[in-house]
Amino acid sequence: MYVYLNDRIVPAEDAVVSVFDHGFLYGDGIYETMRAYNGIVFMIDEHIKRLFRSASLIGLKIPYNSEKLKSSIYKTIQANNLENAYIRLTISRGCGSLGLDPDFCQKPSIVIIAKEQKDYPKSLYQKGLKVIIAKTRRNFKEAINPRIKSLNFLNNILAKLEAKEKNANEAIMLNVYGKLTEGTICNVFFYKDNVLFTPSVDCGILDGITRGIVIDIAKKQGIRVKEGKFTKTDIYSANEIFVTNTTMEVMPVSELDGNKYPAGEISKNLRKFYRQKVKEYIKNYRT
Ligand code: PDD
Repeated sequence: MYVYLNDRIVPAEDAVVSVFDHGFLYGDGIYETMRAYNGIVFMIDEHIKRLFRSASLIGLKIPYNSEKLKSSIYKTIQANNLENAYIRLTISRGCGSLGLDPDFCQKPSIVIIAKEQKDYPKSLYQKGLKVIIAKTRRNFKEAINPRIKSLNFLNNILAKLEAKEKNANEAIMLNVYGKLTEGTICNVFFYKDNVLFTPSVDCGILDGITRGIVIDIAKKQGIRVKEGKFTKTDIYSANEIFVTNTTMEVMPVSELDGNKYPAGEISKNLRKFYRQKVKEYIKNYRT
């Protein structure tokens, strides 16, 4: 495996960053996860745009422009001979002396890791995920806004630990006001009374790129979509629940806090249309 590290492609074992990197010391940095299908990175422009937004929200100046970031991503994929890939682009504040001040760091560290990403097994889409609602609350957006895709993942990891404790695949977090937000690595949707519901961005979530596509598809299919503030009780009485992200696409939830849900038609159809969108994107994309 080869890794992109600060303008160089190096063997994975040589891809190391300093213990003085503020990403390591303080979680000071940002990242994006992308997925490539047949050698094409799906929605690359949207991911790069969000990366720049995250950077701007933490006052980090990315030393590359979008074109250079894109070509570095493709270089990493090609160095590993990948067609279908999981890509992780990380930018930390860089090396500096101890202390929080970002000005201690001369230049950001840029790392791109790409590994093979196969489709999740069909059986998982048929079976669906076991999910809990975590006791851990999602970061208060006036403290650390979840719209910043930051290296500071402890909030999500604490919720993930709760999920593991209960043998669940994923945990949904509420915000400090008790409203639904998102999973540890995904956005949440539920369907009932012929309406597709999903927490709005102002609940304190990452506005997932998959979430945006799924909302568009649903609307085009004539499904009423309502983004808003919802509670545990609202989601418990759903007919269907599913989660979305770049790697899982549209994944049904079969169990939430012990209540059972079918891996139903809504999520199945939305995933089918999502896959169509991926195919069209790949066909039309010019690198
Ligand atoms: N996670 N919410 C959170 C907290 C996430 O970490 C993610 C993505 C999403 C969905 O975003 P998108 O649809 O743009 O992938 C929502 C990625 C997959 C990760 O952490 O690797």
